[in-house]
Amino acid sequence: MSERFRIVGGTRLQGEVIVPGAKNSVLKLMAASLLAEGKTTITSVPDILDVEIMSELLTRLGCKVERISDLVTIDVPEKLNVRAEYDLVRKMRASINVLGPLLARLKIVEVALPGGDAIGSRGLDYHIKGLELLGAKIHLEHGYIIAEAPNGLVGANVTLDFPSVGATENLMTAAVLAEGVTTIDNAAREPDVVDLGEFLNAMGGKIEGLGSPTIKITGVKELKPATHSTLPDRIVAGTWAFAAAITQGDITIKGGNPEHLELPLEKIVEAGAVVTTTADGFRVKMDRRPNAVDVATLPYPGFATDLQPFVITMNAIAQGNSIVTENVFEGRFMFVNELLRLGAEIHVDGHHASIHGIEKLSGAPVQATDIRAGAGLVLAGLVSDGVTIVEDAFHIDRGYPGFAEDLIALGAKITRD
Ligand code: UD1
Repeated sequence: MSERFRIVGGTRLQGEVIVPGAKNSVLKLMAASLLAEGKTTITSVPDILDVEIMSELLTRLGCKVERISDLVTIDVPEKLNVRAEYDLVRKMRASINVLGPLLARLKIVEVALPGGDAIGSRGLDYHIKGLELLGAKIHLEHGYIIAEAPNGLVGANVTLDFPSVGATENLMTAAVLAEGVTTIDNAAREPDVVDLGEFLNAMGGKIEGLGSPTIKITGVKELKPATHSTLPDRIVAGTWAFAAAITQGDITIKGGNPEHLELPLEKIVEAGAVVTTTADGFRVKMDRRPNAVDVATLPYPGFATDLQPFVITMNAIAQGNSIVTENVFEGRFMFVNELLRLGAEIHVDGHHASIHGIEKLSGAPVQATDIRAGAGLVLAGLVSDGVTIVEDAFHIDRGYPGFAEDLIALGAKITRD
């Protein structure tokens, strides 16, 4: 498959899109299937590269993974391999989600460190500290985290310094088979975390407080495989909502859950769009140039950091000045450098971006640096004069099934070449 999107700017997006299952939910469900011997079935699975990577990881751990259309079955054997190799982990950070389940089931696990991280440094320290409180002995060897709990894990009280999604998930999937009760304070409240908890409960787990800052997990002896449907992807739904606002379009987002996007949709309304709920989703209609809006990203239910590139793109062509503050990921403003190539007027100072809206961007070659930055640049290309080329399109494939096809159906002039 080719590696770049070519966009001719200037069209208003109009029509209907269907929201796929959530990337950040399905990957965690797949990893959690390791907790129970037997056949787990996951439905509404999106057709994205990251699902293939997770399937390959589970296969190498000893599972039999089959995909038929949007349904994935994972047959988990009694004996699993303990090692998640670097070549896969480096491709996808969510591979780290096998840490909790494998430790709980096998009492030993070796997971490659995703690039850039080291034990104790930002990135995995909450995962490690939490698992240590549950009784694991953890060390780093040859680029792998080796975690052991020869006598099994024991429930404990864990308070996270920051409501990390990944740490909450790893702790939940480890504690579910621990002896006794675990509480996670300052837990992440994202819908993906709730969905994972509900899946674990369907497998026989005892988890309370999902969606609140305190999660209580009463350990059980074993779990049984279950069938579970993936949540609709709130970030993809939010991407389409911003796409409508940015292009002065009118998009009906089928399958999107507006309750998972309360704050982003409030901002879109503040920008001048009309948002209405429909029988099976919601609709965003924008008839004018957007007003600039100030946004600060925060853990859920705050404004999702994954939607930040889209609000910056909207502000770049909005009426007025705005400030977007990034509170979750330090490196996320890399995307702004590419937007500058399209003529955006943005000044970054630490974790604040000051944006002066201009009427139109100016098409140029730019580079996708991650999934959301890539999608943001494509949307920026839609409101740029002339041709925008977004290189490294594979980033977008990791999170958006059929992105170009959906855009074409909405009237965009976009090709892969
Ligand atoms: C998940 C999502 C990602 C989303 C993010 C925040 C997946 C696959 N990815 O990532 O799309 O942007 O939630 O909603 O679900 N941190 C530490 N130490 C740790 C763990 C995290 O310092 O042990 C820091 C991170 O560097 C980051 C912040 O905490 O600055 C949030 O990270 P976290 O919530 O863990 O994000 P992920 O689970 O990696």
